[in-house]
Amino acid sequence: MQFSEVLRDRHSVRDFSAQAVSDEQIESLLSQALRSPSWSNTQPYRIAVARGAVRDRLALAYSQKFERATRLQGRPRWQQLLMGAALGCLPDGDFKPVLNYPPELHERRVATGHGLYRLLGIERRDMAARNQQMARNYAFFGAPVVMFVCVHEGLGAYSVLDAGILLQSLMLAAKDQGLDSCAQGALAMWRSPLDKEFEIPSAYKLICGLSLGYASDAVINQFDPGRRPLQEFLIPAKS
Ligand SMILES: Cc1cc2nc3c(=O)[nH]c(=O)nc-3n(C[C@H](O)[C@H](O)[C@H](O)COP(=O)(O)O)c2cc1C
Repeated sequence: MQFSEVLRDRHSVRDFSAQAVSDEQIESLLSQALRSPSWSNTQPYRIAVARGAVRDRLALAYSQKFERATRLQGRPRWQQLLMGAALGCLPDGDFKPVLNYPPELHERRVATGHGLYRLLGIERRDMAARNQQMARNYAFFGAPVVMFVCVHEGLGAYSVLDAGILLQSLMLAAKDQGLDSCAQGALAMWRSPLDKEFEIPSAYKLICGLSLGYASDAVINQFDPGRRPLQEFLIPAKS
């Protein structure tokens, strides 16, 4: 593929076929992504790759957490804390989930969510259907491989920046090999399932997941949230 085609064609895939991804493909992707630039070449990230039985156990553990968390929806905060602790589903991720988005970002977030639900025929107020769709995150959208990116806490925001570059390299290298992916911040909500399967050094914090595999022909994979116009993106010069 031409590089411009890889950039154009990469998009988030939220339904994967059962087609397997080989060890060689995974190794090749990871080696290519490791070519990413990083702050003083510190390469301040580690990555856990789950497939087969480990992937399946993680899908189960994450899905259970999410299902239990949905039982807390709409309850007063104190009840959420009590019930969440009893059910073992309070977020235990390394980074605080963003609850209040700044208005400008909130608008784009909502538009993206609504666009996706509209495509799937899910009504805005149909919480059960929305939860069902959200739950797909925790089954890794059926992907045979899921990766978890962890960043060294000692570099603060800069390791997060480097992880973003790494993720993009992974997603583009995947596309170049005919593979698809979906970055998943949703997986950083809980860290405990991952700790049960991997020896994550204590200085490394879970920042994002990435599901990987071959896209199915499900309608959800046609979703294109678009982008804002260049004029809105550019910072105007002072006149
Ligand atoms: C860091 C990061 C985290 C994301 N987390 C999720 C997620 O948890 N679930 C999901 O369905 N999509 C997730 N996405 C995908 C974004 O929604 C998607 O990139 C955006 O809507 C643009 O669409 P595109 O990737 O198809 O171009 C994430 C993307 C990034 C870069």
